[in-house]
Amino acid sequence: MIQKVAVIGAGTMGNGIAHVFAQHHFSVVLVDLSKGLLDQALSTISKNLDRMVAKDRISAQQKVDTLLNVTTSTNLQSAVADSDLVIEAVSEKESIKKDLFGKLSVFCPSNAILASNTSSISITRLASYVDHPERVIGMHFMNPVPVMKLIEVIRGHRTSDEVAENIMELGVQLGKEPVVVNDYPGFISNRILMPMINEAIYALHEGVGTKESIDAIMRLGMAHPMGPIELADFVGLDVCLSILKVLYEGFGNPRYAPCPLLVNMVNAGLLGRKSGKGFYQY
Ligand code: 3HC
Repeated sequence: MIQKVAVIGAGTMGNGIAHVFAQHHFSVVLVDLSKGLLDQALSTISKNLDRMVAKDRISAQQKVDTLLNVTTSTNLQSAVADSDLVIEAVSEKESIKKDLFGKLSVFCPSNAILASNTSSISITRLASYVDHPERVIGMHFMNPVPVMKLIEVIRGHRTSDEVAENIMELGVQLGKEPVVVNDYPGFISNRILMPMINEAIYALHEGVGTKESIDAIMRLGMAHPMGPIELADFVGLDVCLSILKVLYEGFGNPRYAPCPLLVNMVNAGLLGRKSGKGFYQY
């Protein structure tokens, strides 16, 4: 049974994941390199809980209880020593994840489940960096984590049935709707989302429409909550580019080639919401 959860990485995805576990009565320890990053994450969780209280999704008491379920640590080894489940949400660089999984393999109990929130790195490859690769699985949460219903559960080539079933049940306990897929480039979510975003950027690049018209067409015509250009800014243009590169290299198919405008935007440091400017100004 999963009771003690550690989340590694306190950025947008990590603090959202910790928030969801804590809100659903799990004791969760959030781990990052500095106290400053952890304090910032706690304040984001508190702000996002306030938003939910204001929208009557949770009570003020639930906010208090949720915050009590979160602790923080800068010591990876002690934080994961008695964990049943560790979810990594560190930056999307394979070298960093490889190093982390190597440490988790040593620091965690041998039956702890090791999950990755990666948006596109192969779960099968991450599993090859640990002892007992059958316990490694993808738990791909969507941004904003406290709001979006999906957890894309990715089975690596060696993930056991037992681990996959445990994680599917856990997803339901978290109030989410877990959906299982196999481990191929971009899984399902980003294999479909990123080519759509890329095509929208190509349409902009070619002058077929303005960013506003492209977004309005997809919002009003297809009932998407955000248009694809606005969504690209929301996800981060660097993240979109790196996922497209994984698709392009993984399938060896030119249809995934990132639009040169996207490449230029990233090279110019225009990364979307997080940098204050992407296709739109924030
Ligand atoms: N916790 C955290 N963030 C929240 C939140 C909560 N409880 N509720 C809303 N947000 C955030 C946004 O970041 C934005 O931030 P800001 O207010 O600080 O600027 C805020 O939503 C806008 O708030 P609103 O209350 O005005 O927005 P809505 O409640 O109307 O809806 C939305 C916001 C849920 C983000 C909606 O626009 C939506 O569903 N958009 C599409 C999101 C989507 O497609 N996500 C998937 C991205 S792909 C992905 O994550 C995979 C990865 O691998 C790339």
